[in-house]
Amino acid sequence: MDTSFLLFLHSLLRYAVLITVAGAGLMHLRGFIGQHPILNGERTLAIVAMVLCHVQLVLGLILYAMNYETYEHMRGTIGRFWKMEHLGTMVIAILLVTLGRMLSKRAKVERSKQLRVAVFYLIALALILWAIPWPGTEVGHGRGWL
Ligand code: HEM
Repeated sequence: MDTSFLLFLHSLLRYAVLITVAGAGLMHLRGFIGQHPILNGERTLAIVAMVLCHVQLVLGLILYAMNYETYEHMRGTIGRFWKMEHLGTMVIAILLVTLGRMLSKRAKVERSKQLRVAVFYLIALALILWAIPWPGTEVGHGRGWL
């Protein structure tokens, strides 16, 4: 199977992941600071962000598995980026999002629900931003914004 369509989807989905993870993290932080209760829309956004992260994880794993040989033979900065940094950091970030949502569900007090999503999602956001091969960087050389 051709990987270019999957790569396009994976590339496009980064923006949906970034917007929803950032949106949910910031809204929960705002609620925590302002001591407002969680709104239904905010909770839904946190769930949508988690689901999109899981879809992105599946797409990424398929892409990696389909070109496993290529990545295994890559050396230097680029090889390390694809084998360790992109994969490892993204898996950790997605785990953090999942954990943030799970712990938030379990918390008894409204404010700790908000704080858990805010902290876990915003740390995940920073990791995701760092591990994306942005155009203009060494690892993103030759890639575009999409
Ligand atoms: C939130 C999570 C993730 C985001 C935002 C993300 C984002 C990206 C982006 C922007 C690209 C470059 C696409 C392009 O230039 O067309 C890419 C490529 C790729 N990603 Fe991810 N990714 C994520 C998670 C993962 C995970 C968990 C894996 C698992 C192995 C993975 C594997 C790959 C692979 C194999 C490529 C293709 C590299 C190549 O072009 O040879 N990604 N990803």
